[in-house]
Amino acid sequence: MIQRVDSKVDADTTIYLFSHGSTGVEGILRIDIDGYIMSLFVQEEARGKGIGTELMQTAFAVLREIGKSTVGLSVHHDNHRARALYERLGFLPYMPGHDGYTQFVKVL
Ligand SMILES: CC(C)(COP(=O)(O)OP(=O)(O)OC[C@H]1O[C@@H](n2cnc3c(N)ncnc32)[C@H](O)[C@@H]1OP(=O)(O)O)[C@@H](O)C(=O)NCCC(=O)NCCS
Repeated sequence: MIQRVDSKVDADTTIYLFSHGSTGVEGILRIDIDGYIMSLFVQEEARGKGIGTELMQTAFAVLREIGKSTVGLSVHHDNHRARALYERLGFLPYMPGHDGYTQFVKVL
């Protein structure tokens, strides 16, 4: 069960969100305040319980609060699970990147 999500600001440009559960930190999301999700990771044993979704939704709220109207990220085409999560949350692919990565964007 997700107990709480909290955040820490690093070097004025990065915000980390931490999802805490019964076993400690179960998920981490890193936001660049320019409006980009740099990374999302959920501990293997904690996956499939909505932690990734909740971290993403918290990131959208944080970015809206600092005045952003879009959010971007990139994901590898082999990462079906992450792609499915992002597409379910409303991200659209707009540009193929390097080495199998695709850029996605979502309007907040
Ligand atoms: C991609 C990743 C972040 C998803 O995190 P997650 O916490 O498992 O994501 P969610 O639980 O929110 O959603 C994933 C699945 O759980 C399901 N789900 C969501 N809420 C749920 C709930 N309350 N109970 C049960 N299942 C739920 C979703 O329908 C989804 O189903 P799927 O198995 O068809 O994908 C995780 O798999 C991960 O860390 N992967 C390795 C790192 C990585 O690839 N990061 C992304 C790089 S771009």
